[in-house]
Amino acid sequence: MSQKVILTGDRPTGNLHIGHYFGAVKKRVEMQYDYNTYIIIADVQALTDNFENPDKVRKNVKELALDYLSVGIDPTHSHIFIQSMIPAIAELTVLYSNMVTVSRLYRNPTTKAELGQKKSVFGNDGESITYGFLGYPVSQAADLTAFDCEVCPVGDDQLPHLEQAREIVRKFNHIYGETLKEPEAVLSKTPRIKGLDGNEKMGKSLGNAIFLNDTTEVVSKKIMNALTDPSKIRKDDPANPEICMVYYYHKLLNNPNVENVCNECKKGLRGCVSCKKELIEKMEEFLTPIRNKRKYYEEHPEEVDTILKEGTERANKKAAEVLDRVKKSVKIDYFE
Ligand code: TRP
Repeated sequence: MSQKVILTGDRPTGNLHIGHYFGAVKKRVEMQYDYNTYIIIADVQALTDNFENPDKVRKNVKELALDYLSVGIDPTHSHIFIQSMIPAIAELTVLYSNMVTVSRLYRNPTTKAELGQKKSVFGNDGESITYGFLGYPVSQAADLTAFDCEVCPVGDDQLPHLEQAREIVRKFNHIYGETLKEPEAVLSKTPRIKGLDGNEKMGKSLGNAIFLNDTTEVVSKKIMNALTDPSKIRKDDPANPEICMVYYYHKLLNNPNVENVCNECKKGLRGCVSCKKELIEKMEEFLTPIRNKRKYYEEHPEEVDTILKEGTERANKKAAEVLDRVKKSVKIDYFE
């Protein structure tokens, strides 16, 4: 057990799409055999901006677990657990809340960006932002440190939270003595995946995503509507693949034929429809084993429950040890 610890995860607010997969999850799957890996289903964090939709969060805890298992998070190597079932995380969050100023939390770029998107929850001026939402990066610092995480494979939108966690750790260690480990972010080579519409980000709320559990029919429809070079009107017009999302995904999926795709497109030797059909085929090759695995677990829900319960048990054991250490440092360890 001298392996370094990975802690990473997602909020259960919807299914994972290929942007999540290529941006972060693929890396976790690869790294899980070399690290002691904890995967957090961050339901408490999801509630910070979904507190009025507990059913949505609850449903997506299971959906996220299915997504993880279907892409190859291996429960015999990784501990998949539910955040709200780890009381030590909540306790650490309280203790860390003294290590960060309110103005620093307001300056967190990811919080700011999310606030902009969350006008419906928090109002136009951000004045009705809740204490919980503003403070969730503190609870994320607790997630990370509760497991002595040293390595955190995440998408680049999470870097501000990692930085904030590191600041909290440094301040804590400075005041109370060396107690916590500083987590480091590891980005995948393709940290942000563009949407079908050419948007810089693939996102569920942007309506430009291919989900890992999309059916063949849905995938085909989405790809047939994907953005191509708008100047290409006829099938034999030459076009610029660099501004075509179909070409972008051919590359993303490592289509061995990608050079042909590019050259033929530039010379007007290939129409968009045939190019899209080829992409649909490649996407299906990629998604089919994922769908099959998901189907297995959907048909064996009791196995998924056991995986979550056992992962949570192991996570609780570790987090309780770290909490003990923290309490000792803060001198609130009153009785043996
Ligand atoms: N904030 C992450 C997201 O929105 C989810 C998350 C919660 C997380 N705790 C974490 C990620 C700890 C990495 C490490 O996707």
